[in-house]
Order: sequence, then C-alpha cells, then structure tokens
Amino acid sequence: SSGGSTAAKRRAGQSAAEAVEDGMVVGLGTGSTAAHAIRAIGDMVADGLDIRGVPTSFQSRQLAIEAGIPLADLDEVDGVDVAIDGADQVAGGQLIKGGGAAHAREKIVDAAADELLIVVDPGKLADRLDHPVPVEVLPAARPVATEQIVALDGESALRSAERKDGPVVTDNGNVVLDCEFGVVEDPANLAAELSAIPGVVEHGLFVDLADEIHVGREDGVDIRTP
Ligand code: A5P
Repeated sequence: SSGGSTAAKRRAGQSAAEAVEDGMVVGLGTGSTAAHAIRAIGDMVADGLDIRGVPTSFQSRQLAIEAGIPLADLDEVDGVDVAIDGADQVAGGQLIKGGGAAHAREKIVDAAADELLIVVDPGKLADRLDHPVPVEVLPAARPVATEQIVALDGESALRSAERKDGPVVTDNGNVVLDCEFGVVEDPANLAAELSAIPGVVEHGLFVDLADEIHVGREDGVDIRTP
C-alpha cells in the first residue's frame, strides 16, 4: 500500500461506506484505502445491514470474508448499485489505478456500478494525470505490447515482484507493464490506443467512470463531484 496517513484513508473509506444501504449490491475495491471502506461495511453488516459485496481482487475478497460481508459474483447479481474503490492518481474525475495490479477486475466491477465512489488521501490529487499507467498484458504479448507502447511515446517497465524472483503475476495470471507517458494530455484517447494493442487485457486509465471522489483528511472529508 502506498503512503498517505491512515487517518485520512480511514475517513475517506468510512465516508464512502455511508452511501451503502440495505438491499444493495456493493463493489468492493482494492488497496489500503478501500480496505477501510470494507471494514466499515463489515461493521454495518454486523449491525444488521443486508447487502452483498462483489470483490475486485483476491485481497478485497479476503478482507470481505474477514469482515463478514456476504459475497457474490457479477453473474449472480442484477447489477451493482455502488462501488467503492481507491486510486493511485486523481485529476478531476479521471483516474489512474492498478498500483495493486488489480485494475482489470476493478474496472469490470466499477464500470458495472450505477455509482462509483473513489476514496483517496490528498496525496493522490493532481492537476493532470502523469503517473505511470499500469497495463496488464497476456505474458505472451509482452514483447509486442512493449513495442507498441514505445510507438505511443511511452516507456514501459515489466513490474517485478518484491519478494519473489520474477514478475508480478496478476489475479488473472498475467503480467503488468508500468508505462510512463509523462503528462497524459488526452486520457480518453490514450485509453483507446492502449485498449487496441493485441494482448492487452486492461489498462489503469479510468475515464469518466468516477461519480464522487471522497478525499479524506486528518480531520474530515471533502466530497468532490467531477
Ligand atoms: C489496485 O490495483 C489499485 O487500483 C488501488 O485501487 C490503488 O493502488 C489504491 O491503493 P491505496 O489505497 O493503497 O493507495
């Protein structure tokens, strides 16, 4: 998990959890900030709230099980009412995600949700997106995808695991290229170009998906509507 104060992250997570109501299907995001929302929802379930959670990763599934949240897969529910997820960088309503290599399932669940609430600490906010864009690719596609990212004026690095020899392998059995593009002037255009590369499973640009950004601070929360 990245930096930022625990208090700020907890405030953001708790604030978004307040949007969860009886009967809802709730997308459960990944990362240290979304984890606070999952714990808060778990407390609400213990107090009688009747919901089902759709996890976005191995991590969020485990946390939800520990928190006592009943789980469902997308094919068992009739849509997702609200999803709560973290982000690595937020500029207006545009996001870069995938610091935890979970962005493919996150995007599936977040895009399925009627409402997507993003939970961050202030360190994630930027005027323009310039964080490296994580791109999940089929292992066999790595050389070709790397070339095509260079053709888009990007520099890609295979994400390697910290406590293992070799690359990070995603929950889906793929690898991640962290792609540096400098300032992303046109996120929608880059998103389309990345999606068009053969073997790309999903990239971490989340364009026009967020409905609210809950920015936690030490002493409160700002809720922004992009
Ligand atoms: C997971 O792949 C990411 O998209 C996370 O949502 C992101 O890294 C946020 O994590 P933190 O809240 O721990 O910064």
